[in-house]
Amino acid sequence: MTEKKESMDSGVILVTGATGKSGTETVRLLRERGLPVRAIVRTMDDRAERLRERGAEIVQCDLLNFADVRMATTDVAKAYFSYPPGPGYIEAAVNFIQAVTDAGVHAVVEMSQIGVRPDTTHIGLQHWIVERMFDRTPLVVTHLRPTLFMNWVENFWIRISADKGILRLPLGSVRHAPITMEDVARVIEAILLNPEPHDREIYELFGAQELDWYAIAAKVQAELGIEVRYEPIEIWTMLAALTALGRPDRAHHLAMVSQDYRDGFYSGFNNMVEQLSGFKPTTVEEYVAANRDAFDTNGELAMTDVRLNAA
Ligand SMILES: NC(=O)c1ccc[n+]([C@@H]2O[C@H](COP(=O)([O-])OP(=O)(O)OC[C@H]3O[C@@H](n4cnc5c(N)ncnc54)[C@H](OP(=O)(O)O)[C@@H]3O)[C@@H](O)[C@H]2O)c1
Repeated sequence: MTEKKESMDSGVILVTGATGKSGTETVRLLRERGLPVRAIVRTMDDRAERLRERGAEIVQCDLLNFADVRMATTDVAKAYFSYPPGPGYIEAAVNFIQAVTDAGVHAVVEMSQIGVRPDTTHIGLQHWIVERMFDRTPLVVTHLRPTLFMNWVENFWIRISADKGILRLPLGSVRHAPITMEDVARVIEAILLNPEPHDREIYELFGAQELDWYAIAAKVQAELGIEVRYEPIEIWTMLAALTALGRPDRAHHLAMVSQDYRDGFYSGFNNMVEQLSGFKPTTVEEYVAANRDAFDTNGELAMTDVRLNAA
């Protein structure tokens, strides 16, 4: 093994968005292997404290502040980059790409999204541009394009009563294979452990089974043992309800994603999760069983009658 390779294997792995969904899971898996992890957090809150308890080095860093990013990337060997959709994404990506290139970071795994393309206008375009910017660097870089995350099931869940629940979303009768954060993080971990074979690869990632939302509701029903039905709504209905909640940016993003979903951009299937990570992806039933408590109450994006009527 060369000296350079040794330092790559032993160097610090930087995780951005470490308090977010994919970041938290990635830190957990890397720390369970005993690897040195530097976790970027925006605020020093209890989520940061939990990461510290896992043995991660915590660095407070605003990805929109280049000086912060430069400091956070010092002595880093490999990194996972993720940023939430919306304003600031391109700026954060530019800061990150410049800083990791200057710091001589070896490899980056970056979170993109399925269906990204140059001829669109929203997050799909932003992700596509960021992918291409990473491709212009000397980094070993891998792009992940997951389909819709499994947590949409939980986020849009409405608990009507002790024996009834509704999934009310604007996703028509189109199918996708929902993927969990743990499955995505296992892929991130596997690539970070051995990045070279994945240089410049773009991986579309899918969960265990392609299902429409009627079938997802049936699986939630079977697992929870209560009556569950899917109620499709119009995109503009969700847009109005979320806007009325004072979240216009999120509303607009979810509306664009929903339109792409209805146009089939999130559909499809492969076995890349298992191929890359060695683990079979989580099924809807397994996810619900592991997160049963979350279904006792409404999800944060629940399109309840009250919210729809207030819009
Ligand atoms: N949702 C889906 O179904 C889906 C599907 C495929 C791909 N994706 C892609 O997945 C990505 C989101 O991943 P995720 O769900 O793991 O993220 P997430 O849970 O939304 O977390 C975002 C993280 O970024 C941090 N952050 C935000 N602004 C920051 C800043 N200026 N400086 C430093 N950190 C900052 C947040 O910190 P705070 O919490 O402190 O703000 C949080 O830790 C997006 O790019 C999205 O397009 C999503």
